[in-house]
Amino acid sequence: MGDTVNVTFSDAPKALEKKGGSARAVIVAVEEGKKLGAAAQHVDAETGGAITRALKVSRFTGKSAESLTIVAPSDAAYSRIYLYGVGRGLELLQWQDAGGRLVKALNGDGEKEAILCLDVGTREAGEAAANAAYGALLAGYRFDKYRTQEKASDKPSLRKLTVQSAEPAKARKLFKDFEAVAAGVFFTRDLVSEPPNVLYPESFAAEVKQLADLGVEIEVMGEKKLEKLGMGALLAVGRGSRRESQVVVMKWNGAGKSSRPLCFVGKGVTFDTGGISLKPAAGMEEMKWDMGGAGTVAGLMKALAGRKAKANVIGAIGLVENMPDGDAQRPGDIVKSMSGRTIEVINTDAEGRLVLCDVLHYVQKQYKPQLVVDLATLTGAIIIGLGHEHAGLFSNDDELADQLFNAGQASSEKVWRLPMGEDYDKQLKSDCADMKNVGGRPAGSITAAQFLARFIDNTKWAHLDIAGMAWSSKEKPTVPKGATGFGVRLLNRFVADHFG
Ligand code: BES
Ligand code: MN
Ligand code: ZN
Repeated sequence: MGDTVNVTFSDAPKALEKKGGSARAVIVAVEEGKKLGAAAQHVDAETGGAITRALKVSRFTGKSAESLTIVAPSDAAYSRIYLYGVGRGLELLQWQDAGGRLVKALNGDGEKEAILCLDVGTREAGEAAANAAYGALLAGYRFDKYRTQEKASDKPSLRKLTVQSAEPAKARKLFKDFEAVAAGVFFTRDLVSEPPNVLYPESFAAEVKQLADLGVEIEVMGEKKLEKLGMGALLAVGRGSRRESQVVVMKWNGAGKSSRPLCFVGKGVTFDTGGISLKPAAGMEEMKWDMGGAGTVAGLMKALAGRKAKANVIGAIGLVENMPDGDAQRPGDIVKSMSGRTIEVINTDAEGRLVLCDVLHYVQKQYKPQLVVDLATLTGAIIIGLGHEHAGLFSNDDELADQLFNAGQASSEKVWRLPMGEDYDKQLKSDCADMKNVGGRPAGSITAAQFLARFIDNTKWAHLDIAGMAWSSKEKPTVPKGATGFGVRLLNRFVADHFG
């Protein structure tokens, strides 16, 4: 991760005091109809009417997310003035987007320092300021540790952002939790961005150990232990790899001893070649992010511990590399899962479910959780169905499904529920084992979920298929291209809303 933007808060008059000549940019929010707020009027007066003139000659109307950049007059206290349209007031998620868009504009213009003035359209000034700052922080992320030849002028420039509002103390307080969540998002993005020669099961486990500094208990289990536990399905996937498979359990105890934990389980295939059912060469490099579910669980634990969530939470991740090799599992193999059930492996590329079924069984047996949510880049089919706008949601519990849906709407990490049922489950019948690992082409994401459901015993459970969401080739205001960290904000919100 590169340097992130340093964000501070101030109240209205102070931040606009002249200082240091024209080294800073200033951003003023403008309501639709071109009404200027107090800060904008102040800047306008100070610059001899630069804003008024610019508004006169432009098509800027102040509609939500519209923007206009003015290069300030040479004697002004500012380098540039940015007008940002807020329509008739922005929702909190729109303030996050505003912060993100502004960071992008400021970096594009080479600005190092900026003041964002929120004095219009802000019924809840502290909330708006904190959310704008959160968006700015999330947008400022960049994974650049392997770029050794980049010119300074090509790097992001923004170092410091001051968000000015009527309620800086409230903003500061709210921002503390946001900062913890952003740190979790960045941890996920870092893990997902790392190349597969650097991030493999053992090195992933080593990275997770840093969470101990935040008070997270970490348990790492290697192949010997996993064999003892009987995780034959997970181990079968890792057979073709030189790298040792691992299961890592992270524990955050933020509530009393008697409170049964929430469990989050992640698919951590550090590289998915498909195995003997080898994938085509084109695009295979993308399969470095097949550990996205595990990356999100690790980032979520960092977020929850960072903000000292008042809940008991277990994060468990299955880390394997799926490689073809003389010792790799074959199509036709029958493997025995930890639950005792046998699985006919029809396609070695349907490996995620083999990893998850053992970890899901383990956490239920070991921790008797009140609910389990798993995350996985499980199927290409979910991308065909939902694209890159929603993760697939599958659940055996309507209340849990609704809670996750609502957390998605509130966090802008959206999920959409898909159906399940016996008729889909039938597709997994095997002639020679308890089940097979694929159900054919129709409803591929649903039959994958049905496979997982077979390993859930009387526990509230949801499965998020994040194959379309973990990586993005298009940037969004708060999510740069590449690893998105999808799921950290969603599940942090879910935990915060219902457990603390
Ligand atoms: N990791 C892939 C799913 C995937 C595909 C994630 C594209 C992100 C982008 C998974 O292990 C896989 O290969 N699934 C197969 C299942 C099939 C063999 C039943 C798939 O989706 O094609
Ligand atoms: Mn696969
Ligand atoms: Zn996979």
